[in-house]
Amino acid sequence: MEFGPDLDRALALLRAGNVVGLPTETVYGLAADALQPEAVARIFSIKQRPFFDPLIIHAADRAGLAPYVTHWPEAALRVAEAFWPGPLTLILPKRPLIPDLVTSGLPFVAVRVPAHPLAQALLRAYGRPLAAPSANRFGRISPTTAAAVREELGEAVPLVLDGGPCLVGLESTIVAFPDAGPTLLRAGGISVEALEAVVGPVRLAKREAEAAAAPGQLPQHYAPRTPLRVVAAGEDVPAPERARAAFLGWGPGVAEGFAAARNLSPAESFAEAAVNLFAFLRELDGAGVERIYAQRLPERDLGRAINDRLARAAH
Ligand code: TXA
Ligand code: MG
Repeated sequence: MEFGPDLDRALALLRAGNVVGLPTETVYGLAADALQPEAVARIFSIKQRPFFDPLIIHAADRAGLAPYVTHWPEAALRVAEAFWPGPLTLILPKRPLIPDLVTSGLPFVAVRVPAHPLAQALLRAYGRPLAAPSANRFGRISPTTAAAVREELGEAVPLVLDGGPCLVGLESTIVAFPDAGPTLLRAGGISVEALEAVVGPVRLAKREAEAAAAPGQLPQHYAPRTPLRVVAAGEDVPAPERARAAFLGWGPGVAEGFAAARNLSPAESFAEAAVNLFAFLRELDGAGVERIYAQRLPERDLGRAINDRLARAAH
């Protein structure tokens, strides 16, 4: 792939401590040089993100992350081998080279190797890790197109690289490696089933205590402006309410009488539903309705991550 002048501009901006909108296969990121604290601070300020919420650093391959991590547990190596480049983030002990701002002072750093060809090209050419949270204002819906990044962050971002719509559509799965064994901190683009096929049983972090170790996992997140309620398949929404509401569905059923409706995947494909989730939420949020009803998906495969996002959007 040829990326030309935009890539050169992106490299110059990053070197100068500025931010760049970056496509990845999961969602668009707001990238800055992870080793320049002022550049990282700019990310927090543009996103209006609290400093207690640490950032993921990205590199083109595992070798590019090696200088920043002190130790790779065996299980981390196995999942990295199986799923990188791809939608997986690992929490590993950090070297002091990584500014405290990146990790909110934690002794661990979140690391990921994204698969998107444009992200790969930029990371390879830049040669240093990029810190990149999702390119939305704090707590809002993650962007899956370049246009959505501009809508979220506008003029504050001097350049958004356009890599087309994201092919996964959900943020990366985050896994930590405490003594108790591989632990899921955030459900995401790699399913628990797929992880377990590679490393055996994966623990689910308990919300209060352990998820506090991933401070970004606040109960309210990924939120549209319109109030959202999650409903079970087949749960009835009274007709008068439908006329003022939107419906986000799943599967072959047809939602009748709503002011607006989208179907994440009529054919019940989890991958298709993941790709559509944030784009459809954004569209329904703009539909001028009083409430969005979203149908809960089966709690398996990527359905788990999608339900997690819906629950946080509803909080
Ligand atoms: O797919 C993704 O992961 C996207 C793309 C751009 O790579 N990035 C992303 O970043 O979703 P962000 O900042 O929106 O979410 C990162 C999550 C937050 O919940 C944060 O709390 C957690 O990762 N995290 C980061 N560093 C951590 C650490 N050292 N320990 C525990 N959790 C951490
Ligand atoms: Mg985010």
